[in-house]
Amino acid sequence: MSAGGGHTPRLEALLRARGVETMEALVAARLGFERPRLDDYLVKSLLRTLPADAPDERVEAVLVEAAVVGETFFLRHAGQLQWLKSGWLGAAAAGAAGRPLQILFAGCSTGEEVWSFFGSLGPAIRAAHPAGFRVLAVDVSARALAVARARRYRTWSLRGVDLQANPWLRPTPDGAVEIPHD
Ligand SMILES: C[S@@+](CC[C@H](N)C(=O)[O-])C[C@H]1O[C@@H](n2cnc3c(N)ncnc32)[C@H](O)[C@@H]1O
Repeated sequence: MSAGGGHTPRLEALLRARGVETMEALVAARLGFERPRLDDYLVKSLLRTLPADAPDERVEAVLVEAAVVGETFFLRHAGQLQWLKSGWLGAAAAGAAGRPLQILFAGCSTGEEVWSFFGSLGPAIRAAHPAGFRVLAVDVSARALAVARARRYRTWSLRGVDLQANPWLRPTPDGAVEIPHD
């Protein structure tokens, strides 16, 4: 969508304030995406939820939400988790010299990857490295982070995951799963 292509006045004002002509240019500058594609319908419907005097940051956040791809699910990279346990953990624990391991999830989306890590590796890390670990999980999508914090997921996030083999995923009576706090 270009600047002349039916933007709301609020969006036009944001583009002017940021010194760019298109939503794509704004998102590219904000996220580092080379050729972002924005879901026009999503942009329009999210903009309708904002008050007319919404601050620039909230309008910009709408564009970011319409550009990101949050695809993720539990145990998505099972081989990677296996390697972390058998190949990475020993060396990382030795290198940490008694300090907690520091782990960053960059682009964690709605959290399935992070909880998969906790569930699959947490006990092994604590056994191999009593100082434990600290996790920082970040994402540019505030919507995704809110889902991650809520710790509650529908079956689409499971996609065939065996719940019995992964008791850290706790089924709820309404067919969802949640991540317990303990
Ligand atoms: C396809 S998801 C991957 C989720 C998870 N890492 C996984 O592998 O299952 C990509 C995530 O990266 C986030 N993302 C993209 N660009 C980002 C940036 N510049 N800063 C922070 N998060 C970003 C998106 O919002 C999205 O949630």
